[in-house]
Amino acid sequence: MTARVALVTGGTRGIGRAISIALKSAGHKVVANYFGNDDAAKAFTAETGIAHAKFDVGNFDACQKAVAQIVKDLGPIEILVNNAGITRDGTLHKMDQEQWQAVIDTNLGSCFNTCRAVIDGMRAKNFGRIVNVGSVNGQMGQYGQVNYAAAKSGIHGFTKALAQEGAGKGITVNAIAPGYVDTDMVRAVPAPVLEKIIARIPVGRLGHAEDIARGVLFLVADDADFITGSTLSINGGQHMY
Ligand code: CAA
Repeated sequence: MTARVALVTGGTRGIGRAISIALKSAGHKVVANYFGNDDAAKAFTAETGIAHAKFDVGNFDACQKAVAQIVKDLGPIEILVNNAGITRDGTLHKMDQEQWQAVIDTNLGSCFNTCRAVIDGMRAKNFGRIVNVGSVNGQMGQYGQVNYAAAKSGIHGFTKALAQEGAGKGITVNAIAPGYVDTDMVRAVPAPVLEKIIARIPVGRLGHAEDIARGVLFLVADDADFITGSTLSINGGQHMY
């Protein structure tokens, strides 16, 4: 296995944390991006030895600058996992423009911002592995999430388009569509609503962050070069698509 330079956005907490740790355990040189929670990032680095990088994935210039710094320190990024995401749930008739824009910028704009920053390096190397984290709610919609469902659905289209562009250059681009995973984001869903959701998951439980990380490892492997433009659903059977 070749050790690769990997960037995981939103990589210090929740699903991203498990992805960062799994990539490091597989022998890669990992940088975990974060933006909000300094204390969690420091604790994460102290515990795992994985470097963190603070920048707003929704900000184009910040992404170009941060990626340039990582390339300078470690070399070209060969594995990019676009995992950072937020929710600003609410029904459309109560949603304001800020709730809409924040989710579109952070969850979908981020994919353009980071991919644009790494793509020239991947093309030059004739190698790249990009995994974009979508969502079951991007596949099936969710009451109270027009912003999130639109952004995550957009990720799936983005993935298939970029996969076509990367195919001749050794760059695979795939999506993972997690279901409801036991993270702070899902724990913020009102308990009675969450109970009803879990009741509709055939496997009968929330996912673990590690369930998603193992999918990432599968997709970024050197010998996964024939897998591109695909969406791997990891949702306990909640939605079969
Ligand atoms: N379908 C149809 N009707 C529904 C419904 C549904 N799924 N959920 C709620 N309603 C109805 C309620 O029964 C209620 O009807 P009545 O007024 O007739 O009683 C009405 O809609 C209002 O519901 P709420 O009281 O829930 O309205 P609210 O404005 O207080 O809250 C909400 C709305 C914020 C969307 C809240 O329902 C909620 O948080 N829902 C969960 C959304 C969710 O699943 N988010 C996922 C976050 S995790 C994530 O996104 C990760 C991932 O990728 C999976």
